[in-house]
Amino acid sequence: MDTGNHVRIERLPGVMAITLARPQKKNALTTAMYQQLLQALELASAESSVHAVLLDGEGEDFCAGNDIADFIVLARSGQLFEHSDVWRFLRALLAFDKPLVAAVRGRAVGIGTTMLLHCDLVYVAENASFSTPFVDLALVPEAASSLLLPARLGHVRAFALFALGEALDAHAVVDCGLANAALPGGEVTPRARAAALALAGKPAQALQATKKLMRDHARMDSVMASERREFAQRLMSPEAQATFQAFMARRAPGP
Ligand code: COA
Repeated sequence: MDTGNHVRIERLPGVMAITLARPQKKNALTTAMYQQLLQALELASAESSVHAVLLDGEGEDFCAGNDIADFIVLARSGQLFEHSDVWRFLRALLAFDKPLVAAVRGRAVGIGTTMLLHCDLVYVAENASFSTPFVDLALVPEAASSLLLPARLGHVRAFALFALGEALDAHAVVDCGLANAALPGGEVTPRARAAALALAGKPAQALQATKKLMRDHARMDSVMASERREFAQRLMSPEAQATFQAFMARRAPGP
């Protein structure tokens, strides 16, 4: 299990910038990274000088989803999913009360895409792609994406992402309101930083209240609880174990 420090925190005026920094593994999220992300969000929420948070990814790809080796460890550990760091991070993301701004280049897979559904401003590179291939992994949607993605895309397009593993490109995510703008790669982080800094200059209480009014927390919380129960069962299932082993061995899962 990789326990290195792969989450970087930087302070800008009024903004906490959080960068996924595991580019050699496409910023796939390990247990340790979920812990670090959780701590960062807790800190950002508690500190009155932080008015907005910027999420970024180092390297070519934003995030290749949950680290699959860690899924294997989690499933074998017998730990209840609701006690896992991934679940604690998802809860913190749902509850986070300050604006989140994301800068996305390259691929955003699984939670790399579903976390964007909780962001308030999203800037993407023209080369970005977004996929949620949960069924291919013998899993189910998480992060309230079973509610939020159909709300943005409509049922059939969301189902194609979840169940067929289809991807959306940068222009599609802008068209469906998942992102604000598709930009040349080099402009994504500067644009997202400028937006976060602009938010940090706004009346802070009105900003937080606006975010709160726009999100149906109770509904998302209830959907996430249903997703959690199903996800926990799927994670332990032999079919999920087979897909994880196939990824690790670089082969298609058997029949
Ligand atoms: N978990 C663990 N390791 C991962 C990973 C993940 N989710 N995604 C990528 N990696 C690792 C690869 O194993 C590889 O490691 P290695 O260099 O030690 O062999 C490294 O990151 C680079 O990935 P690679 O697959 O060689 O890059 P690629 O450009 O050919 O493909 C992806 C990129 C994202 C399409 C591919 O890595 C992938 O499908 N990853 C899994 C995505 C996924 O299903 N995530 C879970 C969603 S719930």
